[in-house]
Amino acid sequence: MHADVKVFDRSEAASRAGAESFAELARRAVAEHGRFSAALSGGDTPRAMYRMVADSPLCERIPWDHVHLFWGDERAVPPEHPRSNFKMAYEALISRVPIPPANVHRMRGELLATRAAQAYEEELRAHFSEPVPRFDLVHLGIGDDGHTASLFPDAPELAIDDRAVVASFDRAQDEPRITLTFPVIDAADHVEFLVLEPEKARVVAEVLAGGERGGRYPAHRVAPRGRLVWLLTEPAARMLPRTESRQ
Ligand code: 6PG
Repeated sequence: MHADVKVFDRSEAASRAGAESFAELARRAVAEHGRFSAALSGGDTPRAMYRMVADSPLCERIPWDHVHLFWGDERAVPPEHPRSNFKMAYEALISRVPIPPANVHRMRGELLATRAAQAYEEELRAHFSEPVPRFDLVHLGIGDDGHTASLFPDAPELAIDDRAVVASFDRAQDEPRITLTFPVIDAADHVEFLVLEPEKARVVAEVLAGGERGGRYPAHRVAPRGRLVWLLTEPAARMLPRTESRQ
């Protein structure tokens, strides 16, 4: 799978590139088919990017009435819990933009993870006409173990191809999760990874190199029908060949 790799000198520049990409994809999707359906990533990395999307001038460029926000994954915690991906996105982005509340499609982490996954599949079926939900954007991060969304190494969920959303489990955090599956991620028109931290340089290099070791990481399995983009800081890209485009 070909990936466009863009390297930025600092976290702020990489996050800004992610925010501008979000705004441009939103404008294009709404112009082309009347709405923009995006699956957000969680964790700490995207917080600054989400804040930039909500700041002027980007905020005003986005047709919020036609934007639908989903999540790529969620921790099985209530929305007010400090580990909730929804809470992070709500504080950084959703509470600061004029998006209709009905356009915010939260994974219900307060439920049992298997029940939350079933409920989310129903929500995706109600929103998308295609048998496999087709997002305009799936935004992803990567863990230092090569997980993405909540698809963890050697987990049974990696092989699931007949479900859109499943329960999974983060052994490192001893935490049940809800996650989109590979078929949904790969059906997207645009998948974008954002990686800022130097500690992830090795896993980024191995995932992008593929091969025996890199191929074992869930993040390496991401192969969208559309475009695959990696936005990296120099420190996160430091183990890549220098051929990658420096911005
Ligand atoms: C989550 C994320 C997950 C995240 C990576 C990186 O719920 O944790 O969706 O896939 O992208 O774990 O997390 P950080 O950005 O916090 O390093």
